[in-house]
Amino acid sequence: MKQLKALDIGLRVLSKFKSNFAYSRIFIPEVFLLAASILLLLFIFIDLPIDGFIIFTVIAFSACIYILYLIGSKQRKEFEKISLAINSIRNNEYNNASDVKLDKYLSKLETDIKKMFIKNQNDIKYLKKLEQVRTEFLGNVSHELRTPIFTIQGYLETLLNGALEDEKVNRNFLEKANNHTLRLNALLNDLIDISMIEAGQMRMSFRYFNICDFLVDTIKEFQPQAEEKNIELIFKSAMKDLKLYGDKEKIKQVMVNLIQNAIKYTEKGLIEVSVIEEKGFGMISVKDSGIGIAEDDLDRIFERFYRVDKDRSRAVGGTGLGLAIVKHILDAHGTTIQVKSEPGIGSEFSFKLKR
Ligand SMILES: Nc1ncnc2c1ncn2[C@@H]1O[C@H](COP(=O)(O)OP(=O)(O)OP(=O)(O)O)[C@@H](O)[C@H]1O
Ligand SMILES: [Mg+2]
Repeated sequence: MKQLKALDIGLRVLSKFKSNFAYSRIFIPEVFLLAASILLLLFIFIDLPIDGFIIFTVIAFSACIYILYLIGSKQRKEFEKISLAINSIRNNEYNNASDVKLDKYLSKLETDIKKMFIKNQNDIKYLKKLEQVRTEFLGNVSHELRTPIFTIQGYLETLLNGALEDEKVNRNFLEKANNHTLRLNALLNDLIDISMIEAGQMRMSFRYFNICDFLVDTIKEFQPQAEEKNIELIFKSAMKDLKLYGDKEKIKQVMVNLIQNAIKYTEKGLIEVSVIEEKGFGMISVKDSGIGIAEDDLDRIFERFYRVDKDRSRAVGGTGLGLAIVKHILDAHGTTIQVKSEPGIGSEFSFKLKR
């Protein structure tokens, strides 16, 4: 029994010795070279008898082994601390970067591990936020799709249940169902746009184009809608030949969104689209005399699906994606959109493009 215990202790010491020795392996040449040099000096300068020299050699060899053992033991403890810190980060056991502690002389490594920890925490936070945004986005999309689909379904069922033969309502119901399919189509197009943009797949094609001709043509398309609401839609600019640099198709999408909004959220008065020349830029504005936007909402109207008044916006066919798309497109042009607005007075959206 005693022999077994002794054997066990022996094996353990040997394994510890081996492990410590393994950590000091890289110092073996230096330590032995130093010992050999000392022995050589002793051999040259002191007249040692051969048995004395053998004794010195054995002592030097043992000292080398002991020194290597000590170095290895210290190294092993340091590595274990580093490994503990890394494992604790991996297992989320630390709450703060200050929980990472190494020996003083490893302060550079400690700082690096702390930085890695902070980056790790930020990445996790970002991923959680992304997950939340994705869930919200999916919730919003399904909600927005459900409304027109249910409405279309309702009209079709009513028609099939007999209203089809009722001359007074059949055409009207079909028109309403058709309007909702148009709305569904517009919503899907916006969703495709926004997911392409956010996946970084928006292909841009920049060139110079005549901004006045472009704005006059765009405004023409909206005259009927403005007239229908008795709103005056005008264009104001003194520079007929001003050329600005951008992706014409995408800027068209921006203008369509801004003018459509101005018409949707204006009940009476005037919508003025203008372009003015600035140093190195042209500034395009869409100004309306509509309902305006309260200050608290101004920062949020560029978020996906954000509408100041959901019911009102939905009634005029809005999903809250328009300005999010506008913002992305202008970001890709390296420019930003500015808004000035006062409830009850009107709003002005403007952005600059390079000349
Ligand atoms: N010119 C404006 N006047 C007043 N409110 C505005 C104006 N433009 C935007 N808004 C407010 O900002 C919100 C977000 O606008 P956005 O264009 O993103 O969405 P939408 O017009 O509701 O829907 P969509 O453009 O997707 O059809 C609108 O719902 C509206 O409340
Ligand atoms: Mg809009």
